[in-house]
This record gives sequence, C-alpha cells and structure tokens, in this order.
Amino acid sequence: MAISLRRHDHFPHNSRADALSVATVGNAFVDRVYAYLSPVYDIAFGPLLQPGRVKAIERLAIEPGDRVLEVGAGTGINAPLYPPHCEVTAVDLSSDMLERARDRIGAAGLTHIRLLEADAAHLTFVDESFDRVYAPYTVSVVPDPVAVVREMCRVCRRGGRIVILNHFRSTNRLLARMEQAISPATVHIGFKADLDRQMLLEQTGLRPLSVEKVNVPPIWSLITCIKE
Ligand SMILES: C[S@@+](CC[C@H](N)C(=O)[O-])C[C@H]1O[C@@H](n2cnc3c(N)ncnc32)[C@H](O)[C@@H]1O
Repeated sequence: MAISLRRHDHFPHNSRADALSVATVGNAFVDRVYAYLSPVYDIAFGPLLQPGRVKAIERLAIEPGDRVLEVGAGTGINAPLYPPHCEVTAVDLSSDMLERARDRIGAAGLTHIRLLEADAAHLTFVDESFDRVYAPYTVSVVPDPVAVVREMCRVCRRGGRIVILNHFRSTNRLLARMEQAISPATVHIGFKADLDRQMLLEQTGLRPLSVEKVNVPPIWSLITCIKE
C-alpha cells in the first residue's frame, strides 16, 4: 500500500520539534504507516532490535510493585521482558499495533500488563503516576518528540527512572548528512533517521545518568535518566 505525506499530516505547530529532524509527520500519517507495518513489524524490527530491549529492561531496574509506563508499545514485543512483580501500562497510537499486542499478551497470560490507545504527546495520567517510564524505539516515530518526552517526565515520579531507547542522528558529519537525506523516506517505514539527541535532551531538560550504544551495529542509544 502506497502512502504519501499529505499537507495536513505535516507537523503543524512547534518549530522546535521541526528542528530535531528534517522530516515532519503527523499522527494520521504515523497511524497509517503502522497500520500497514503491523503484520510485518516483529519480523522486520524484532530480533535486530532485541538486544537493546533486553538491556533497557536492566536499566529500568524495576522493583516489586513498581508502576511502569511504556510509551509506544507497538505489537507488545517488550511485554514478555517485564518482571511479573510490576504493573505495566502500555500505550500506543495505533489500534492495529495494539491489536497484535492484545493477542500476544492474552496468549502469554500476562495479567500485569494493560494496554491503552493514547497519544503519548497528550497523556491523561496525573503528574508522577509512574515509577518507571520507558520509550522503546518510539521518540523518532512520534510527530513531536519534545512533547512526548516532556509528558514522560511529567508522569514520572521524582526519583523515578526515565529510559529512552532509540536511534539518533550520528555525530559523524558525513553519516549525519546521509541520515538527513534519507529521513523523509524512512518515515514511510516508520521512523525518522536523523533525530537530534542533543537537541532533544536540551529542549526537554533531561540529564542522562548514562548513554550507552546498543545493538549490532551499535548505532542505537540507550539513555537512562533519574527524574530530579
Ligand atoms: C517503532 S514502534 C516501537 C514498538 C516497540 N516499542 C518496540 O520495542 O519495538 C513505534 C510505536 O510508536 C507508536 N506511536 C507513534 N506515535 C505515537 C504517539 N504519538 N503516541 C503513542 N504511540 C505512538 C507507533 O504506533 C508504534 O507502534
């Protein structure tokens, strides 16, 4: 199915978010892309990105009774990785992706995970509702990464952990140029290739405890933060 960027899909109102990437998308566009990606997502992005997911769960350091928020749950591919002694709320914009997550969670009998259809840029949870907030491979997908990360910070309790796992624009100038060149095309397979990590951290006020390179090749970053 061919998908084109329509004028009203383009990111409309926040020039700061535009500066993080040359590519701009809107929720309607992202929703359509993930509707057609949903049947093949686990094959295309499953094993390749799994080492990062496993390492991220370690960095979340989930304690018994913790309330965990996953932003961009997709097909529920992270669901089996959560320890049973926590309560996970997993949100996603795409009903097609969530349908697969629901099947996976039901088949595995994972009763400590609940799924919600929601836009992560406008969460309805009250401030400090969660002990751990985690965005696996999501911030380069959403139209407004700054708004999403700010929401993640808002709903995380003080002293809680915020973990972001994502590919960001390379610090190598040549690679960065290539990523910027392909980013308007990669949005059609689900992500912006050129999201600027430093700018995202600056605009959200996040100060990482650690930034690690993960996966093979190690071009994805695992950012661990403690909410101050
Ligand atoms: C690349 S997938 C990541 C799926 C999964 N977390 C993983 O580890 O593979 C990104 C997901 O973010 C979701 N998404 C995109 N924009 C969103 C938004 N504004 N709010 C919530 N979820 C969103 C997409 O529907 C998609 O399922």
